[in-house]
Amino acid sequence: MEYEEPKFFHVMQYAAAADRDVIDMVSGNPDWEPPAALREALREYADLPPDAFQYPPSEGLLELREAIAERRSVDVDRVVVTNGTGEANYLAMARAFDRDAGDEAVLLDPVYPYYPGKVDMLGGEAALVPTERDGGLDVAAIREAASADTALIVLNTPNNPTGAVYDLDAVREVVEIAHAVDALVLVDEVYDHFDQTGRFESALTLDSDRVIVTSGFSKSMAITGFRVGYGILPAGHVGDAKTRHMLVNVAGPRPSQYAVHHALAETPPEYYAEARELLADRADAFTDALDAAGAEYSRPEGAFYVLARFEGFPGTMANVKRLVDEAGVAGMPGEAFGSARDEWIRFALVTPRAVEAAERLADYFGD
Ligand SMILES: Cc1ncc(COP(=O)(O)O)c(C=O)c1O
Repeated sequence: MEYEEPKFFHVMQYAAAADRDVIDMVSGNPDWEPPAALREALREYADLPPDAFQYPPSEGLLELREAIAERRSVDVDRVVVTNGTGEANYLAMARAFDRDAGDEAVLLDPVYPYYPGKVDMLGGEAALVPTERDGGLDVAAIREAASADTALIVLNTPNNPTGAVYDLDAVREVVEIAHAVDALVLVDEVYDHFDQTGRFESALTLDSDRVIVTSGFSKSMAITGFRVGYGILPAGHVGDAKTRHMLVNVAGPRPSQYAVHHALAETPPEYYAEARELLADRADAFTDALDAAGAEYSRPEGAFYVLARFEGFPGTMANVKRLVDEAGVAGMPGEAFGSARDEWIRFALVTPRAVEAAERLADYFGD
């Protein structure tokens, strides 16, 4: 397999090398503070005895797995702590393809680019199914695409890049489709703390042996560099994930897991609410300014991305580079997320300069 640089690295490097000030709205790296308890736990960690510097249990620190299990109301045996949600997604996909139940994965378009990348890596075939125009699930289209060849259906809610929060009833219908064709459903809930609608419900509430839920702390605790995520797998699949995780990684990082465990126990709900409010304010201000730029856009129901479409300016890599050079704003080309939104550009709201960026866009595209 050739090394393929992720498109977001490419845009970020292009923006960093530009000879003008550029507002970076490319990546999904939160710009706000991690929980205070996480910083305290890290300080404490430096003075722990040498055994704290050795391998943790491969499937994750027991106290962290117990805390996750309690919050998610599942048996602790079903929890595997992983190197980010990214690894949990990989473990889930690998398991789905390993069952001799087909080699096709139904993915939704627009799609988080690492999903088709992983499906490819695992020797599977990705079938991209467009979502509704507002990013909602098109259950009929998923039903039509699913066949005996389908091993896996992948959902992500709240969604990157559309910001859609799926109705649990629609997710339930997708699980029924999966059941009919002997597929597993991977539901990536990494943005679960960033639901702005109050409607989000975890797919775990469906209590289905077809559903694997993944999530992590990269976004909710603003720690993308810590690499702590998890998978919650049905009893019949969790052993496979634990083995694969162990053979690839030996174990995950102990200090990160320790710090996350403390932060989980000691961080009040207000911490998460403040981040949500910050993002809602930014989304308001950014989309108001997009109105001034004459853009069409999606107001996110969750996660922290806005998709915008500027007349006569499709979301190609070339146009994204033009925006960097000529407007001083960096986003992600819509063409990186499949073909359904290739006219669009994605802007991540994880910068205090979101409003300034929208004003720049309004100056650039306005009359
Ligand atoms: C939908 C989705 N899943 C997974 C990830 C990766 O998360 P983690 O840092 O927990 O591996 C991201 C990161 O942007 C994401 O947007």
